[in-house]
Amino acid sequence: MEARNHLKRTSWLIRQLYAPDAFARRDETDDKVFYAVDRFVEHLDSLALSTVEQVIGQLIVEETPVILDLMAGWDSHIPQSIKPSRVAGLGLNPNELAGNRALTDFVLHDINENPTLPFPDECFDVVLNTVSIDYMTQPLEVFTEVARVLKPNGVFIVVFSNRMFPQKVVKMWWRLNEEERVILVEELFKYVELFEEPRTFVSRDRPRPVDDRHAHLGIPSDPVYVVYADRKGPHPLVRPQPHME
Ligand SMILES: C[S@@+](CC[C@H](N)C(=O)[O-])C[C@H]1O[C@@H](n2cnc3c(N)ncnc32)[C@H](O)[C@@H]1O
Repeated sequence: MEARNHLKRTSWLIRQLYAPDAFARRDETDDKVFYAVDRFVEHLDSLALSTVEQVIGQLIVEETPVILDLMAGWDSHIPQSIKPSRVAGLGLNPNELAGNRALTDFVLHDINENPTLPFPDECFDVVLNTVSIDYMTQPLEVFTEVARVLKPNGVFIVVFSNRMFPQKVVKMWWRLNEEERVILVEELFKYVELFEEPRTFVSRDRPRPVDDRHAHLGIPSDPVYVVYADRKGPHPLVRPQPHME
């Protein structure tokens, strides 16, 4: 009863999280089969990729961080300036993970099948999730798990854009516009009490690089949205608000 009353008071957007088909996908076949195909491709244009790398570099202030790349592929977008002591990758494609030079180790694990992350409590300083949140069918469970595996004062950085594999995107994501998606991700953080208030960085409407294969379409560079929050803890770190030169 309590939960139902709470749901009545929340916004229309959050109520959509509980719609019966919110996390259905056009292609409900096993994710392990879909991602068995190697995709050594860039998921964003070069300007957007450089933005992602700069933002990650600015937000990681730990000296030798222990990092988890959640839903990792062949590139973790961690700049050279960061000197991690470990970068664990979790994903579904063994060749992409083996070819990812940032990773020190990786595990094949389907978070839609089992959102429990195969890591002990409080073992990471940083968890990254890049251009993949739209494929999570149980995001509330995954965000709860990320808070569990983060050390106190560690940070969860969620990066997304507007490109996607349409057959594997959850319906809820598909229905929302880009601004609503930012609000949704902020709300996922707010759902987990262990997280501090999320903060957001947005880069969009910048000119597309002239050598990009879609430049002739006259569309801007791929937008970059970053929502991030620290796990609550006794010694908060000062993370600068990301900015682009
Ligand atoms: C668009 S790619 C992004 C890869 C990488 N994060 C990047 O920034 O280039 C989506 C990634 O999510 C991973 N993924 C998709 N569904 C998954 C699932 N159910 N469990 C774990 N990983 C998944 C895939 O292996 C794939 O590498």
